[in-house]
Amino acid sequence: MKKIGVGFASVTMLEKQYVNEALDNSRLSASTFVRKFEQSFARKHGNEYGVMCNSGTSALHIAIETLKETEGWDSSAEILVPALTFISSANVVLHAGLSPVFVDVDSKTYNMDPRMIEKHITGRTKAILPVHNFGLPCEMDSIAQIAGAYGLRIIEDCSDSHFAALRGRTVAGWGDISAFSLYVAHTITTGVGGITVTANKRYSEIMRSLIAHGRSCTCEACVAANSEQVCRKRLDSDMDRRFCFERMGYSYRIGEIEGALGLAQLERSDEIMSRRRSNASRLTQLLSPFQDDLQLPIYGGEYDHTFMMYPIMITSERFTRKSITEFLERHNVETRPLFPLLNQPIYKKMYGNIEDNYPVAKKISRNGFYIGCHHGLGEEELAYVGRVVGGYLSGI
Ligand SMILES: Cc1ncc(COP(=O)(O)O)c(C=O)c1O
Repeated sequence: MKKIGVGFASVTMLEKQYVNEALDNSRLSASTFVRKFEQSFARKHGNEYGVMCNSGTSALHIAIETLKETEGWDSSAEILVPALTFISSANVVLHAGLSPVFVDVDSKTYNMDPRMIEKHITGRTKAILPVHNFGLPCEMDSIAQIAGAYGLRIIEDCSDSHFAALRGRTVAGWGDISAFSLYVAHTITTGVGGITVTANKRYSEIMRSLIAHGRSCTCEACVAANSEQVCRKRLDSDMDRRFCFERMGYSYRIGEIEGALGLAQLERSDEIMSRRRSNASRLTQLLSPFQDDLQLPIYGGEYDHTFMMYPIMITSERFTRKSITEFLERHNVETRPLFPLLNQPIYKKMYGNIEDNYPVAKKISRNGFYIGCHHGLGEEELAYVGRVVGGYLSGI
């Protein structure tokens, strides 16, 4: 069997057509495709404004910097982040010069546990940054209720959960600003890339400025340098507004080719998502007989999971993660650990051994792993995965 990877990027005639159109337009920096993608992606997630940038990490970073500016947070500000997530969800708080404060996760959803939030809230807490891990939405109604009670802002990290929904409400439906990664292996991808979405026009303008070095004017003519539109205010003052910078910004822009890829992927997203969901159901069917040893992902009912990956937790003491993942890899089934965070060398250096304060995250990061259930897999590969897992468990 050929390798069954955790990620997959499908490029069809539509992606090629749009990329060729972008190239034929001789326009490589962000233009029509990027704008169309931003608008459609934001609307699909119940928001009015989208700002595409060069990574999910940049998207999170500009979201925090925007709230820092508008809310006037100083360097004592703390942001609550889950104790189990990809490292960049916490790194971005540090990039913004603020402090991440970790919150333990739930043992079934692997997401920030709302019951654990309040004990970490202090006078310095300014925001909650829930991460919808692996495609499953967090308990956002409870999180939003706590945020409301304490006057906290919400930044949703939806990097792994494009289009996922809780009780019919799509992710990014609670955040002041929400961020997504479009890196390869994410449910829809532009190779590299990220996007923020928001319902707040002012936030979107600040974020557009932040991705372009802090530029003053964020009108289309100034943002898109060779646009045929003309900025009426551009030469009104001494300094050309295109080259006037009013905040400390970054070079986080994305190009038109990624915009073209994104628009094509978005137009194909229903097909991509339905294949992922049906692959995940098939895996659950195949792995259900092993539920004495393995905890399978929860979904259905209130949770519309979009399965960026298929997470599995070992619940028995008969074997270790090392032993089962080595067996799977030897049989060409790729695996990855479930986002260990607090035991990362850099975090141990910065925070010491704090892992024991987060027993659920610790257990998951030691005993959890994921396999692929992406739209590139079919019945033959899924049935094979079922046989390999079964073979391992019957042999120990
Ligand atoms: C939960 C989460 N947040 C943020 C990111 C960062 O995205 P990027 O790699 O595009 O910077 C990732 C990357 O996979 C992620 O999984």
